[in-house]
Amino acid sequence: MADFITVILAAGKGTRMKSRLPKVLHKAAGKAMVQHVLDAAKAAGARHQIVVTGFGGDQVREAIGSQAECVTQVDQLGTGHAVLQAKDLLAGEKGTVMVLCGDTPLLTPSLLERLAREHEEAKAKATILTAIFEDATGYGRIIRAEDGTVVKIVEQKDATEEERKVKEANAGIYCFDIEALFEALGEVGNDNAQGEYYLPDVISILRSKGEKIWAVAADDVEDTLGINSRAQLAGAERILRRRKNEELMAEGVTIMDPNTTYVDADVTVGRDTVLYPMTWLEAGTVIGEECEVGPSVRLQNVRMGSRVTCQFLYAHDCEVEDNVALGQFVHLRPNAHICEGVKIDNFIEVKNSTIGKGSKLPHLSYIGDCDMGENVNMGCGTITVNYDGKVKHRTKIGDNAFVGCNSNLVAPVSIGDGAYIAAGSTITKDVAPGTLAIARERQKTIAGWADKRK
Ligand code: UD1
Ligand code: CA
Repeated sequence: MADFITVILAAGKGTRMKSRLPKVLHKAAGKAMVQHVLDAAKAAGARHQIVVTGFGGDQVREAIGSQAECVTQVDQLGTGHAVLQAKDLLAGEKGTVMVLCGDTPLLTPSLLERLAREHEEAKAKATILTAIFEDATGYGRIIRAEDGTVVKIVEQKDATEEERKVKEANAGIYCFDIEALFEALGEVGNDNAQGEYYLPDVISILRSKGEKIWAVAADDVEDTLGINSRAQLAGAERILRRRKNEELMAEGVTIMDPNTTYVDADVTVGRDTVLYPMTWLEAGTVIGEECEVGPSVRLQNVRMGSRVTCQFLYAHDCEVEDNVALGQFVHLRPNAHICEGVKIDNFIEVKNSTIGKGSKLPHLSYIGDCDMGENVNMGCGTITVNYDGKVKHRTKIGDNAFVGCNSNLVAPVSIGDGAYIAAGSTITKDVAPGTLAIARERQKTIAGWADKRK
């Protein structure tokens, strides 16, 4: 595998996004654009990464964390000026630097790997990634000599009529020999239509020194698309989703309707799982094998085991073990831990609670801050009363307990193993194992009352 360092340009404001958020932090398929670039470069063999930040630099640096070294470009004087900011960080380094932009989320590891490999094999000082565009408007054009070698890159705004007809354009991604790059960058001026220091000018400078320039053409122009507007962001999202669904299907996942199945880039789904329509599987979600997910399921950061069935469910930041059945209109909130073989159905909310193996919650319950044992039966309408207006308290329910319908368990409270709670009880004191607790008004029947009322 080729060996290289990256410099990712991410200082621009992204004016056309009309956003407070720096452009490269906008997400496509649940992942920030710059993260897609970092991931693709890492998978292609990058041994170290540098990001040039500017607009919204604090936010960008926070999102990147320790994945890359960051350097600030205070004034955005052009792409050449941006790369110069990395000079000190690359001092003493030899070999290849790959320069990329932070707004190209569709790059694939294989394309970058190929770019780096061909650059090494060609022993070039600079290798440009190019693509053939139906309409190359806005891009820098690749100007070649009669023998096919690259002479220069000319920006749209500086190009002649003739040059603008060229369909081969600069994708904005390059490999350079580190020493040759910084030597040439020192000679780049800003005497051009935009008054900027253009990185592509390095190409003609290196050529005039007799250095070898190479170009690699992307097979699929889609992989190189840069995102400048929200409409283009939606386009990238669509492409990433299509790729993800195709990848999952190739790995043995059934997707009934790929057009209405939205799977984020980092989600994994096991074999023979079936995804029904209108399903969203969002960042951090892991699904096991032979599950049936959907229709209408939204999972955010959920770890789900195998052979789980669920429909009309919203779950986030929680864990579901194997062989669980989650029915319609269930809401699993942060730190819900649903153990093996549990059944949860019809209008139930679970938060910050463990539901022990084999327990059943069939209808209309709120379970918050509860440690529930195994094989517990929670009757219809049972509620953990976990909040006294100031503090949250926990409820403990032992194995094999049976909680009758419409009971309130007022926390902190503990129900022992095998205990029974009579329907309609409001439990405020601990219930010992194996006992029956009744905490409700006895029924009074008044004979002849109805006649007297008349
Ligand atoms: C650039 C190339 C063009 C190429 C196109 C591909 C130049 C002069 N032109 O044009 O040949 O076809 O990309 O998409 O390089 N940036 C900084 N600091 C700056 C200026 C830019 O960090 O001072 C960053 C931007 O945030 C962006 C990237 O560099 O991520 C590219 O800049 P942009 O202004 O979008 O260049 P283009 O005009 O698209
Ligand atoms: Ca651009």
